[in-house]
Amino acid sequence: MAVKLTTLCDNLSGNINFAAGWGLSILVECGKEVVLWDTGPPGIAAENAVRNGISPGRITCAAVSHGHVDHTGGLHDFLRLIRKEIDVYLHPGAFEEKYVQRPDSGARMNYIGMPHRREALEDLGAVFLERKEPVWISDDIVLTGEVPMKNDFESIDDNLFVKHGDEFTPDRFADDQALVVKTEKGLVVVLGCAHRGMVNTMDHARELTGVDKIRAVVGGTHLVRADQHRIEETISSLEKSGIGQIGVSHCTGMPAAMAFAAHFGDRFFFNFAGKVTEF
Ligand SMILES: [Fe+2]
Ligand SMILES: [Fe+2]
Repeated sequence: MAVKLTTLCDNLSGNINFAAGWGLSILVECGKEVVLWDTGPPGIAAENAVRNGISPGRITCAAVSHGHVDHTGGLHDFLRLIRKEIDVYLHPGAFEEKYVQRPDSGARMNYIGMPHRREALEDLGAVFLERKEPVWISDDIVLTGEVPMKNDFESIDDNLFVKHGDEFTPDRFADDQALVVKTEKGLVVVLGCAHRGMVNTMDHARELTGVDKIRAVVGGTHLVRADQHRIEETISSLEKSGIGQIGVSHCTGMPAAMAFAAHFGDRFFFNFAGKVTEF
């Protein structure tokens, strides 16, 4: 089945009619399904959709890659426009209290979890479907569920935490997942932040679909703090997978994006806000 991706929010914009905002939101259209994949931070993605003639009322369900505000904060805006009950798939860990310790703020913990109370979102029509395992939204669209960490070069940033009671512990990102579409030419893997690693995520997508070929990978790759070794290992894994196209967004970081661009040439693109792709 063919798939159309419209990027409703990214850190950067590639279209004068789309505002940029730190985060990610991609509308995934495949057959009868119109899936809202992540929602960006508050105030960006839903407004971009409306401004560009994309009616939120067409959305058939929503899915969240993980609990960070830059992927969940826009859900409230969409629900206010959709004005009916809508299924929202996510891992139960997405509701945890998430924090970051920024290099420029010393030991201070900054809250970066979901910004709206669960009850407030449910009052607006969200029906949360909490799943740890893969979920098939249709015959061709699957959410990966928890991503096993198998290779030796991808790791989780050590400045991200969850708070239980008064205690902060490193965030292991059990909630981190991707959305995968089976097309005739291979898998299209749509990432959120890929906190557990884009290669681990793609390997998991292959395993759970039984499809080996990756047609494209699009979205946040979380290489923003990666060293040269990890970037090189990532490129060689992508190359081995026979990747067709790679469109990076959000938490990729310029050094990794430049390395991808240099290596993949015209197979590479920036997946900024306003970008529309069909596979
Ligand atoms: Fe994140
Ligand atoms: Fe993010």
